Amino acid sequence: MSKIIVSPSILSADFANLERDIKLVEDAGADWLHVDVMDGHFVPNITIGVPVVKSVKKIAQIPLDVHLMIENPKKYVEPFAAAGADILTFHYEAVEPENIVELIKYIKSFDIMAGMSIKPKTTVDVTFPFLSYLDMILIMTVEPGFGGQKFMPDCAEKIKPIRELNRDIIVQVDGGINAETGKICRDYGANSLVAGSYIYSSDNIPDAIASLRI
Ligand code: DX5
Ligand code: ZN
Repeated sequence: MSKIIVSPSILSADFANLERDIKLVEDAGADWLHVDVMDGHFVPNITIGVPVVKSVKKIAQIPLDVHLMIENPKKYVEPFAAAGADILTFHYEAVEPENIVELIKYIKSFDIMAGMSIKPKTTVDVTFPFLSYLDMILIMTVEPGFGGQKFMPDCAEKIKPIRELNRDIIVQVDGGINAETGKICRDYGANSLVAGSYIYSSDNIPDAIASLRI
């Protein structure tokens, strides 16, 4: 298995000191920065929008992994791509199935990577027709909306069939990831881990990031 892509979620950073907290994880060996965009409709919470992504892009040295927890993602692909997203992940539940391939192609037309995420109650089989089009599948192991929730082990089992069907796709997991739950996901075949509270609440961020790889 290739190197594990660690993507710290800046949702757990101090937004009044965002540059400091981004540099903290970059210096500690983070591969990507996970940016959680929430619209108050698809999920109850409201977080980061296009202007913040644009500002973060000016200071970030590593790719921006933008997780769109929003309704009507197509409308926001161009603005987030222009703001500097390197990976754009939409939710399966936010798009009519017959429009998904077109949306993936549209994201890729901006020369960025396309990801699709599924919520805990969505079955894994719905992703199968789209795997060959996608760069990444994001398996949610908590209900999207908030950081700091408890990992749902049943959701992690969805990694295995995806990895069996497709050896090349990036399988990312998000929600309640720490050294222990991250290992469960890696053993199922995940190769990208998002972690917010685990990394940002750690006294030793380089060690916390390294612990997600071993
Ligand atoms: C939850 C977000 C996650 C969140 C993860 O809706 O998608 O990216 O920041 O936070 P932790 O790692 O604390 O569960
Ligand atoms: Zn996320």
